[in-house]
Amino acid sequence: MKTLVTGATGFIGSHLIPALVDRGHQVVATDAVAEPRWITSKLNIPYERADLGSDAEAKELVLRVRPDGIVHLAGLLAEACEANPQLGFRINVMATLALLRWCVAQGTRRFVMASSPSVFGRGLPEPVANDAVKLPETVYGQTKLACENLLDWYRRVHGLSVGAVRFPWVYGPGRTTGLTALHSSFLLDAIARGEEVVVEDADQAGDWLYVHDAVRSLILMLEKGTHSRVAYNIMGEVHSVREAMNIAQELFPKARIKMRHSAPAPYPYASSFDDTQARDELGWRPEYSIRRGMKEHVETVRRSLAVA
Ligand SMILES: NC(=O)c1ccc[n+]([C@@H]2O[C@H](COP(=O)([O-])OP(=O)(O)OC[C@H]3O[C@@H](n4cnc5c(N)ncnc54)[C@H](O)[C@@H]3O)[C@@H](O)[C@H]2O)c1
Repeated sequence: MKTLVTGATGFIGSHLIPALVDRGHQVVATDAVAEPRWITSKLNIPYERADLGSDAEAKELVLRVRPDGIVHLAGLLAEACEANPQLGFRINVMATLALLRWCVAQGTRRFVMASSPSVFGRGLPEPVANDAVKLPETVYGQTKLACENLLDWYRRVHGLSVGAVRFPWVYGPGRTTGLTALHSSFLLDAIARGEEVVVEDADQAGDWLYVHDAVRSLILMLEKGTHSRVAYNIMGEVHSVREAMNIAQELFPKARIKMRHSAPAPYPYASSFDDTQARDELGWRPEYSIRRGMKEHVETVRRSLAVA
């Protein structure tokens, strides 16, 4: 299967691409930034630089590559969308619309993307059900909900095979963007570097999903033929930052972690989401406990620092 991966040089993309290559996909990577060496020299796969905020570039890319499937990860995360809603809609929504349009035009069969539980507002019973009412409070959540609705329209009207997985706090080595990284990946990166970790909002809770499991859910979705819904909640393990850092302290006894007793800042998302539908229909199960994920994350960063 020829699979085009957008957002290829980003955090999740850089973990997804080697996994797809291992599974025998003929991968074409694309992103807005210059060609990274790990894609072309280590994996020896084609890399296409394109700004998907431009309909002309999206069209040219899809019509030239002619993929069987697309995994769409390119986009702006929450803080960038809040800072510039117009840009958030252009990159997250208009780019998705352009790709969907050109998929239909050229005969791409499968379109899968990363969505987010930010499509739900606050105040819903937790864990939030897959099909609960969606009243997003953030611009980011609004863009993701617009994308889910576009996927649904392309499925009904054009018969395109589409799917989205809603990721909670994805953590793992290599994450550089996003609000939720402050509570997860950045803390583990600091532990790996031997720096003191000061947690300001220790009682903020969230769902910790290791990047390996996020990647597996995307591949399950990509390779799945049929499923009843467009978008599925995906869950890891729910912990407050305090609980997670206590586990990290046990795993890495030399880590210097300080936790403050500040009240959690108002947070626009719920903490836990019900992924029963993904389990029943996609066969989704996380493979990583938080202990296993944190250990692998810190050890991977330490290895890369030793090599550098
Ligand atoms: N990381 C998480 O916890 C999380 C949670 C929920 C959903 N998601 C979604 O998963 C996807 C990937 O997230 P990530 O953590 O890898 O983010 P990331 O910021 O690391 O990667 C996003 C990539 O998109 C690319 N991009 C941005 N604008 C572009 C444009 N105009 N044209 C082409 N490429 C462009 C960037 O260069 C970057 O490489 C995003 O859609 C994000 O909304 C992530």
